[in-house]
Amino acid sequence: MLKGKHLIEPNDFTLNELEEIFTLADSIIKYPEKYLDICKGKLLATLFYEPSTRTRFSFEAAMLRLGGQVIGFSEPNSSSVSKGESIADTIRTVGCYSDIAVMRHPKEGAPKLASKYSNIPVINAGDGGHQHPTQTLTDLLTIRSYKKTISNNVIGLCGDLKFGRTVHSLVKALSRYSNMKFVFISPPELEIPSYITDELIHHEYYQTSSLEEAIPELDILYMTRIQRERFFNEEEYLRLKGYYILDNNKLQHAKEDMIVLHPLPRVDEISSEIDNDKRSVYFNQAKYGMFVRMALIIKLLGGDNIA
Ligand code: NCD
Repeated sequence: MLKGKHLIEPNDFTLNELEEIFTLADSIIKYPEKYLDICKGKLLATLFYEPSTRTRFSFEAAMLRLGGQVIGFSEPNSSSVSKGESIADTIRTVGCYSDIAVMRHPKEGAPKLASKYSNIPVINAGDGGHQHPTQTLTDLLTIRSYKKTISNNVIGLCGDLKFGRTVHSLVKALSRYSNMKFVFISPPELEIPSYITDELIHHEYYQTSSLEEAIPELDILYMTRIQRERFFNEEEYLRLKGYYILDNNKLQHAKEDMIVLHPLPRVDEISSEIDNDKRSVYFNQAKYGMFVRMALIIKLLGGDNIA
């Protein structure tokens, strides 16, 4: 039963609960007209302490397409946060006015802290370099749709694996599926943290800095940008920017049915020359993000019995 739960980390839900969400997302994609009013009278609060395009817009679009409404801020300085209000007080107040809240915050653990004080479900929309569970739902639904199964795939994760929270969440989630192989492709300075790989006890994985060498065996390639805002020093960022650029030249060594994912925004790590390749599914992935968030909102508010 997902009603009333918080979503802070990708593995807060069981595999069966995830499957329930994906099945509902499939149904929403097929029969959107059935869900037009299901959240009528309900309010979603979006608390974005950090910039966002896809995550905020897809949550807002999701709630509006379900017949619900949205309040919130995309700029903390326009709320009492700028007066020094604590997260605990903000979420308690937001809970007086709305039915479900989505929070993005630059500090690791902030949405978890909010959930401790909240009487409404809190969804983590990204906390610092830590986790981004709804991007993971998006990624899993995309993989499931294109590959038919989430298990039994070789996935390459490429770019900033140190600071990229979407990678951290996705690896954590995929570690519960069987027969996955992980290839971590990064410059040595941006390697995947060991607290993530420590959990891969049942899976094969290796690290490399060469995208060219890794690409032929991959079923899924997950590209990410270098996370400029998490660097302490601009010079270091400029040195690593442009380290990987996926273009036609590199893609010709990939399998015909490999899929290229990217949580977006991209900077220069995917050349626009491959946007029309059938393997480039990142914009469809963004669309799946809205459908899976529609399913998530419905489930957390009570499934078919939203009262
Ligand atoms: C990601 C994020 O915010 O972590 N964006 C997103 O939500 N789709 C990825 C990124 O910013 O690089």
